[in-house]
Amino acid sequence: MNSLRTTLAVLCVLLASCSGGEPDQRIVLGFSQIGAESEWRTANSESIKSAAKTMDIDLRFSDAQQKQENQIKALRSFIAQKVDVIAFSPVVETGWDSVLSEAKAAKIPVILTDRAVTADPSLYIGFIGSDFVEEGRKAGRIVNDKFKDATGTVNIVELQGTVGAAPANDRKKGFEEIIATNPRLKIVRSQSGDFTRAKGKEVMEAFLKSHDKIDVLYAHNDDMAIGAIQAIEEAGLRPGKDIFIVSIDAVKGAFQAMIAGKLNATIECNPLLGPQLMTSATEVVAGRPIPKRIVVDEQVFTMETAKQHIQSRKY
Ligand code: AHR
Repeated sequence: MNSLRTTLAVLCVLLASCSGGEPDQRIVLGFSQIGAESEWRTANSESIKSAAKTMDIDLRFSDAQQKQENQIKALRSFIAQKVDVIAFSPVVETGWDSVLSEAKAAKIPVILTDRAVTADPSLYIGFIGSDFVEEGRKAGRIVNDKFKDATGTVNIVELQGTVGAAPANDRKKGFEEIIATNPRLKIVRSQSGDFTRAKGKEVMEAFLKSHDKIDVLYAHNDDMAIGAIQAIEEAGLRPGKDIFIVSIDAVKGAFQAMIAGKLNATIECNPLLGPQLMTSATEVVAGRPIPKRIVVDEQVFTMETAKQHIQSRKY
């Protein structure tokens, strides 16, 4: 009898361990990331993964390799998996209505992170991210300040982010709004460098070939500025001196470039959105409301202040 009891007990233990014991009670969050196009994006992905771990959330992470069609596929797969919450950083602003309506019909709440969409706001529950128009304005103010006493025309070239992306549209808008107050400031060339170093370098090479006098480079992110700095040096010019350079993100690479005297200023865009996203997902699953818009606080860093900040930078 005793040995039968022991055998039954062992069987129970084995069955429990085979079935995983207690059912997994964790929140399941499906997250579609844009890709790995920049230092900023890498820091953003790490922040999301580590916050999910800390908060014990079952994160299903999918990399879209900068393609909207891959993001749409990922969102549909999250709907099919019946995840608790979907979050994503949309590569471009438009074209999301159908898939967001499918998520709504399946009663799966969607949280936007980093970038916005132009869709019916009832299709998503909240948006956590930076104010990109304000970032563009901050870059514009730096250029305005630097050239406020200019007597001749100041030629500006602009490296835009991914075509159709919210940060590309908004950073352009904010910058133009500010420089419009000084008629001497002129954007002479503006083209997309797709937020990557390689493309930033390539487009800057073309700018340098087509224009003898470039006074300012405004890059929508640090990676493109860093690529462009290489192109400027290869053309025999001194970045940060012959050409005044302002970009956005404030990643470590930008601090190194500022300390080396090659980049004049960077506007912070905070990628550490993981903890806020996990808190929001937890609130939503618990049936509590979250703010429709959570804006992240950001600073401006210049060549003069870079050294005192580099040690404390987290990305
Ligand atoms: O959406 C944020 C932007 O996307 C960052 O500025 C850029 O580096 C990234 O690729």
